[in-house]
Amino acid sequence: MRESVAPFMSFFNGPFDELNRQPDVANFAVGNPQEMPLPAYVAALRDATEAKDKDWFAYKLSEASSQRTVAATLTARTGMEWDPDDVAMTNGGFAATAVTLRTLVEPGDEVIFLSPPWFFYEMLILAAGGEPVRVRLEPPAFDLQLERIADAIGPRTRAVMLNSPHNPSGRVYPGADLRALADALTDASARIGHPIWIISDEPYSRILFDGRRFDSPSQVYPHTVITYSYGKTLLAPGQRIGYLTVPPTLPERGQIRDEIVMQQFATGYAFPNAFLQHALADLERLSIDVSVLERRRDRLVPALRELGYEASMPEGTFYTMARSPIADDVAFTDLLARHRVLVLPGSIVEVPGWFRISLTASDEMVEDGIPRFAAALSEARR
Ligand SMILES: Cc1ncc(COP(=O)(O)O)c(C=O)c1O
Repeated sequence: MRESVAPFMSFFNGPFDELNRQPDVANFAVGNPQEMPLPAYVAALRDATEAKDKDWFAYKLSEASSQRTVAATLTARTGMEWDPDDVAMTNGGFAATAVTLRTLVEPGDEVIFLSPPWFFYEMLILAAGGEPVRVRLEPPAFDLQLERIADAIGPRTRAVMLNSPHNPSGRVYPGADLRALADALTDASARIGHPIWIISDEPYSRILFDGRRFDSPSQVYPHTVITYSYGKTLLAPGQRIGYLTVPPTLPERGQIRDEIVMQQFATGYAFPNAFLQHALADLERLSIDVSVLERRRDRLVPALRELGYEASMPEGTFYTMARSPIADDVAFTDLLARHRVLVLPGSIVEVPGWFRISLTASDEMVEDGIPRFAAALSEARR
């Protein structure tokens, strides 16, 4: 097994599996729903299963209607005239990232990713024949480290992977950071003689707190591929739909379209199911209630701080990071599990000594969880 996914597998095959099924556990482990889905979501899917023509369930690539839906959203958000032909629909953000890497990376190319990363970046870079190059973001701020990124660039750098709003820290990188990154990559691209791409992983772009705005590097850097999943905004990650796309400012966008489709086939038919695409125009308008997540954050983070935990205040996503009161975060998350609180050890996402809390837990789990966090902390201190 690859070293980078071994801690992930041992966590999910360990006590998580059993505890995850128990209703009295305060479950903050992963971004999974702990409550029933949005009724409008279920209604949209139900409607889309009613076949309206003979091709309803025929093989689907990127349906023109899906591409138009996505392009209209991106045009409205960025003010740039997005071309529907530049949208490739995928079965989730996972596949969007895999296909993007396979499209851009030649064997031996280096791909810079920021740590803490989403669990699978390193594995997906390796699977595409690339060499992962890790650049660290430091807790508790997890600021973008532009100098470190610039220092990591070499003649074989093909892409930099960026994820904002950032899992696991909840940071939303401001437009000024993105412009500075774009300038640094423009200079470096000229120096090494080929464009360095930004792979901008944006599944949390609509989960923003405190009235924050989301800026995408695609607005300032043409060589950007956006990867997106609907699994977060709809909190239905088992229904796999997402996309990858390039901005209308990219000069050679027509040239990579066929390669993207070829790589979708090569990735094992990385297209979304027919009925999810039929439902997409409806799904695009739906979202979980972000104000509920924000209220939950505002209840839980101050409560943890009051108890004596160091906890971050996320700007977006549904994650918060907290420092383990003992150096061994795995031992502390095991202790929390004995108190019937399930969280993700930071070691799994390359932040040892911390743990990640998912705000997708229900309000009841938050209320039940707070005294249990208190009890575990007292026990750890003893
Ligand atoms: C940063 C990031 N990228 C991509 C994904 C993949 O999303 P999906 O499972 O919906 O494909 C996730 C899911 O956790 C994520 O957090």
